[in-house]
Amino acid sequence: MRKYKIAWLPGDGIGGEVLEALKITLDKLDFNAEYINGDIGWEFWCNEGDSLPKRTMELLNSVDAAIFGAITSKPVKAAEAELIPELRGKGLVYRSPIVRMRQELDLYCSLRPTKAYLGNPLNFRDDIDIIMFRENTEDLYSGVEFNTVPDKLKAVIAELSPPFSRFKDLPGSEFAISCKINTKFASERIIREAFEFAKNNNRKKVTIIHKANVIRATDGLFLEIAKNVAKEYPEIIFDEANVDAMTMWLLKNPEKYDVLVAPNLYGDIISDLCAQMVGGLGFACSGNIGKKLAVFEPTHGSAPKYTGMYKVNPIATILAGKMMLEWLGEQMLADKLENATAQVISEGKIKTYDMGGNNTTLEIAQAIADKL
Ligand code: NAI
Ligand code: MG
Repeated sequence: MRKYKIAWLPGDGIGGEVLEALKITLDKLDFNAEYINGDIGWEFWCNEGDSLPKRTMELLNSVDAAIFGAITSKPVKAAEAELIPELRGKGLVYRSPIVRMRQELDLYCSLRPTKAYLGNPLNFRDDIDIIMFRENTEDLYSGVEFNTVPDKLKAVIAELSPPFSRFKDLPGSEFAISCKINTKFASERIIREAFEFAKNNNRKKVTIIHKANVIRATDGLFLEIAKNVAKEYPEIIFDEANVDAMTMWLLKNPEKYDVLVAPNLYGDIISDLCAQMVGGLGFACSGNIGKKLAVFEPTHGSAPKYTGMYKVNPIATILAGKMMLEWLGEQMLADKLENATAQVISEGKIKTYDMGGNNTTLEIAQAIADKL
C-alpha cells in the first residue's frame, strides 16, 4: 500500500475526541498514512477572523483525503462580538467553514449512507440500507442572501416577477430574501453520480426528492434533468417524490428505499431523518466528495455540553473513516473496519450513553480495534 497524506481537522468541541477514537482504529488497521493537522473552527475565527485559514485550504489542496471532526457555528452578530477587539468593526462576516470548504473545493457530492447495523437498540427497523446523494454546493445554501433588501433589487424583481407585487411596498428592512440557485451543471452532476453509484453497486432504485409542483423553476429543473438522465439507465427503477410526502413514506416504509438524490436543503433534512432511523447522530457519517479531494466527517456538530467528557459515540466518525478508506480504493481495509464496528454493535456489550450504556468514546474505539 502506498503512503497516503491525510489532512486531520479536529475542529471544535467533541471533534477532537471522536477523531482520537478513529485514530485508534486506523492505527490498528495498519493504514499507511501521514496525518497532517489542520486548523479549522471557532478559535481561528475569534483570533484571526477566519475559521478556515488559507493555510488549511493549501493543506487540503495537497492531500489525498481529509477527516474532519466538527465545528461550532454562531449567527453573524454573535460571531462578530466574539472576535478579538482588533478585528471587530472591520466588516468581517462569519460564514460556516464547512459550507465554504464544500463550495471552494467543489466537494459537490455529499454522500450520506443510512445503514441499520444488526443489534443496534436504536434501530427503527433492522432492514434499512439507504444512501443519499445530496447536492453540496448550491441551492438555498448558495449564500446569496439579503437580510435587508436593497431598493435596487426590489425594483428589478418587481419589474420581472408579478407575484412580487405583494412585497414591493414593504421597506427593505421589513423582509429578507435568500436565493435558491440551482444550475443545470450541478444538478446533472449529482443526479448522474447517484445513477452511476446505483449501476456499479447493484442498487435497484433511485428516488429523486423535490417540490417541483410548487417550486417550479429550480426544482422543476432538477426533476426534468433527472428524468433525462434516468433514460440512460433503463435497468434502474426511476422514482420521484415531493419532499414533504417523502418524510411520511420514509417513516412508513424505509426498507423500500435504496438510493436517494436531492438538492442541497432537502438532502440535508431528509438525511437527518434517515440517520435517526438507524441510531441518530452517533451513527451518521458522511463524505463531501469532489473530483480530486474528499473530506469525510460525522454529521453531528461540536456538542458543547459533552466536550471533554469522552462520552459521545465515535461510531459515526469511525464509519466516516470507513468511507474514506473506500474512497481511497482500500476496500479491504474499509470492509474490515465496518465488520469490526458491526460486530461491536451486535454484541451490545460496549455502548455509549446514546445506546443505553455508559462506556467512553475511547472504550468503543478500543473494542472495535480489538476486533481488527
Ligand atoms: P450537535 O450535533 O453538536 O449536538 C446535538 C446533540 O446531539 C448533542 O447535545 C448530543 O445530545 C447529541 N450528539 C451529537 N453528537 C453525538 C455523538 N457523537 N454521540 C452521541 N450523541 C451525540 O448539534 P447542536 O447542539 O445543534 O450544535 C452544536 C454546535 O455544532 C453548534 O455551534 C452548531 O452550529 C454546530 N454544528 C456543526 C456541525 C458540523 O460541524 N458539521 C453540524 C451541526 C451543528
Ligand atoms: Mg444537517
